[in-house]
Amino acid sequence: MARCFLATVCLLSLLEMVSSFTMHRKDNVAVYWGQKSSISLADACDNDNYNMIIMGFVTNYNTSVPNSLVLNLAGNCGEGMSPCSDLAKDITTCQSKGKAVTLSLGGGSLPPWEMITLNSDQEAKDFGNMMYNTFLGGSVDDPKRPFGSAVLDGFDLDIEQGSTDHFDVFIQTVRDASTQNHDSRWYYFTAAPQCPQLTGQPYGNLFSTTPFDALFVQFYNNDCGLDAWPESPWNFDAWNNWAENDAPNNGSVKVYIGAPAASGPGMAHYVDAQKLGDIILDTVRKYGSFGGVMLWDIYAAKSNDNFDAAVKKDLNESMIPKIGHLRRSVNVGDLLP
Ligand SMILES: *[C@@H]1O[C@H](CO)[C@@H](O)[C@H](O)[C@H]1NC(C)=O
Ligand SMILES: *[C@@H]1O[C@H](CO)[C@@H](O)[C@H](O)[C@H]1NC(C)=O
Ligand SMILES: *[C@@H]1O[C@H](CO)[C@@H](O)[C@H](O)[C@H]1NC(C)=O
Repeated sequence: MARCFLATVCLLSLLEMVSSFTMHRKDNVAVYWGQKSSISLADACDNDNYNMIIMGFVTNYNTSVPNSLVLNLAGNCGEGMSPCSDLAKDITTCQSKGKAVTLSLGGGSLPPWEMITLNSDQEAKDFGNMMYNTFLGGSVDDPKRPFGSAVLDGFDLDIEQGSTDHFDVFIQTVRDASTQNHDSRWYYFTAAPQCPQLTGQPYGNLFSTTPFDALFVQFYNNDCGLDAWPESPWNFDAWNNWAENDAPNNGSVKVYIGAPAASGPGMAHYVDAQKLGDIILDTVRKYGSFGGVMLWDIYAAKSNDNFDAAVKKDLNESMIPKIGHLRRSVNVGDLLP
């Protein structure tokens, strides 16, 4: 990008970039990164198809043991909480391209004793302050900030089982810390519930009590997955209804189609990019809360003939009313004599 001499010019050019993340756009692609080491964060950030990179995962934390947080980024960083100076540099580079970089808590099918369990509001407050100081706008000496002075753009919850009791207090604590610190940026809070988990465990009533910026609903590994579209039990309408009426920040929270980026283990109910394009078009038209697509994960996308490029194209075309219309109603073959 050309150098920005005026802040407003700079901001405008960022807004125009297809790969920059803004809450209001409907063609965001958010992707999970970090469970393999075959794509560096720098390479992920060079990919214009992605607007948000979600680093996974912080897997566990024992609230009664100081410094017990476990950051698992496969081969991308050392064990535990050792410094990742290469990642620190890549995070800031990524952000300078307008992308958001967040960190996900949870992931996978961990046994309950290896998950982040908050037993009280006080534990949730301590955890929130620790996470704010370690990854966001605060500062700490011990444990060290693994990404040094790089400041992440927020946290994602991918709690697959157990409960999220007291996570409302955790989130509020991070927000309060940010306000007290007069941070200039807004930290995103997102979550990736499976499609049947609008109510019930593991999220309980968290989605009705706590404002999230976006939910990356996993429309896979369940009967309500993508391959059920357009029939029930495909249930984007339930999530949209929540977003428009029941969420504490109803009308502004976004819902993403969470999709497997390939078929394979843990990615059941995968649909190909053409079918996903049809689903996106239908969803853009019907549901005001639609904010884009979340892909699990970046390695699957690359291995599947750059699925991300096809999805970005699907999103792009769905934003153009005429092309969307043509795509839907006219088989190109029909135009031939
Ligand atoms: C957390 O640490 C405490 C103190 O070492 C230990 O007694 C407890 O079993 C640990 N909890 C979990 C869930 O591992
Ligand atoms: C929020 O939901 C209520 C109904 O629960 C509705 O009356 C109101 O218009 C909604 N606000 C927005 C901004 O959508
Ligand atoms: C769609 O792609 C075209 C060509 O790359 C680009 O010029 C346009 O800005 C994109 N539109 C959106 C809405 O991203």
